[in-house]
Amino acid sequence: MFDPRPIGIFDSGVGGLTVLDALVRRFPDEGFIYLGDTARVPYGTKSARTVERYSVQVADCLLRRGVKGLVVACNTASALGLGALRAHCTTPVLGVIEPGCRKASGITAGLSRPGRVGVIGTRSTVASGAYPDHLADLDPRIRVISLACPMFVPLVEEGWLDHPAVRLIVEETLAPLRSQPMDALILGCTHYPLLAPVISAVMGPELTLVDSSSAVAEELGNYLGGVIAPAPPGGEARKVEFLVTDVADRFKEMATRFIAGMDEAMVEMVDL
Ligand code: DGL
Repeated sequence: MFDPRPIGIFDSGVGGLTVLDALVRRFPDEGFIYLGDTARVPYGTKSARTVERYSVQVADCLLRRGVKGLVVACNTASALGLGALRAHCTTPVLGVIEPGCRKASGITAGLSRPGRVGVIGTRSTVASGAYPDHLADLDPRIRVISLACPMFVPLVEEGWLDHPAVRLIVEETLAPLRSQPMDALILGCTHYPLLAPVISAVMGPELTLVDSSSAVAEELGNYLGGVIAPAPPGGEARKVEFLVTDVADRFKEMATRFIAGMDEAMVEMVDL
């Protein structure tokens, strides 16, 4: 059985485009509607109640457009709003935290000693404890070291990916983690994959970085054909639409950094 309806995907802004990019490449037959809540970004500094409310409003907008499933491509919304979204939505809802944790626990699973996993994210994601809680559910022996990196999102938003100052900021921010032995480091924020080369250079190339965008693509593969019917083969349903809640020009400019060939995309403004 096939279902030509699109999959909804949202983030507080442009960061979730790293996830969309991975999904579009992995599922060439599927259609997607991406919503960036650009009027209210960042979510990473807001309270759980606010993030929950915003997430449900965004989900409602996508559900009204007839999506068959929802990908929460925002770590903060996944950390603080996933429970509310799953209770509210009539479609399956997939967050980024569970897939990222499964990938990290897979890396430490074969070790004879307890695994050590680092998690970096926004202040709200780290304060929520969602990553350590989920990792403990998967493997109670895993030791988790979490660190909020509030400077990283603004760097990426400004396109400072290989600016000389970035190396200094990343070094300084990650200093508390550099002395800690670790088997894997979860990039628990949608923007961080764009800083992965610098993070890797600072932390050492032997440390495995877990990027939620590839983990969520793998997870969606498990959903499609199971709880979500896939689009008919041949790419007839294939279409990627973009919705934003504030100025589309800035979104378009930013999006070209996240998705190759995105320059001419149609972006529609919506009111939630
Ligand atoms: N998308 C957010 C996340 O993955 C980062 C940006 C924000 O703070 O809204 O946590």
